[in-house]
Amino acid sequence: TFRCVTCTAPVNIAVIKYWGKRNEKLILPTNPSLSVTLGQDELRAKTSVAFSSKYTEDRMWLNGKEESVSSQRIQNVLKEVRRRVRKRGAPGGGNEVDTSRHIHIVSENNFPTAAGLASSAAGYACLVYSLCKLYGVQGEISDIARQGSGSACRSIYGGYVLWKTGDLMDGTDSFAEQVAPESHWPEMRSLICVVSDQKKHVGSTEGMQTTVLTSELMQHRVDGVVSQRTDDMIEAIMARDFPTFAKITMQESNQLHAVCLDTYPPIFYMTDTSRLIVRLVHAINDVLGDIKVAYTFDAGPNACLYLLKEDVPRVMGLLRHFFPPAQRNGEPFVTGLPVDEL
Ligand code: DP6
Repeated sequence: TFRCVTCTAPVNIAVIKYWGKRNEKLILPTNPSLSVTLGQDELRAKTSVAFSSKYTEDRMWLNGKEESVSSQRIQNVLKEVRRRVRKRGAPGGGNEVDTSRHIHIVSENNFPTAAGLASSAAGYACLVYSLCKLYGVQGEISDIARQGSGSACRSIYGGYVLWKTGDLMDGTDSFAEQVAPESHWPEMRSLICVVSDQKKHVGSTEGMQTTVLTSELMQHRVDGVVSQRTDDMIEAIMARDFPTFAKITMQESNQLHAVCLDTYPPIFYMTDTSRLIVRLVHAINDVLGDIKVAYTFDAGPNACLYLLKEDVPRVMGLLRHFFPPAQRNGEPFVTGLPVDEL
């Protein structure tokens, strides 16, 4: 028999940043993180997984190109899903969930890969979700996605999502949890300013490793700053307090990049254009007399802005002035909003 499952998973952008592992193999973080999962129609991964008695080996195609399935992370995810099938005995039983069967994976993103746009987060979340559907694995699965890429565990859920650090050595208490659904704050919008779609110069896995080994400022984060900010952030989200949400988001982004600069040798993800966006956002907030828009940057130069629906036209007007949407090739453009609001 042939069976195939197709799923999509959106990108998530952290407002409290994950940067640093306490266990490399299991991908366990040094601190909690919190993100907003973008809408299904925006930046997303789409993955199909299938098994057939004709398949003689596991194979995978990413954005139209065949890639090896032998990477440690793909193997970790496949092994963990198959282990759970054997352990629990998936519904249906028998042939349908025969874990010795080979699978084919076909996945594509609708945005640039590895440009610091959380493509691995959406990709692994989507792969794990599809595999679990195919094999009938139920229950908590964000901890399987975590073993593909840390930030991927947060893309298993929509809305506002917390990834708990956990205390246990085996990582079973380090999974993602929805703090509030998207509908809790319907006015929230995100804008992605693509400064560059080039591959990042230091990958996040390697970058955070060097940070943990060399940065003194990193200890300051782990010692309590991040947990306090996480509590404050959850409170701001629950109260729909945008100025507080925005301020913590910007301070977190700035501290992540300060920690990168404190890494030895230093890591630079933000460029002159990124910094221009930072200044522009602060200028807009000054002019408007309140915090109306926040920026956040991950392991790349691209900005994610958070703002409320009512402020989109004003902010878009200014952004368009500085970053005309016509210039797409290598130049900044803006995406991430429902089409009728762009
Ligand atoms: C800056 O999840 O890509 O985006 O676990 O090694 O795969 P690995 O790292 P990854 O790191 C993401 C780092 C970040 C911040 C965040 O998303 O919280």
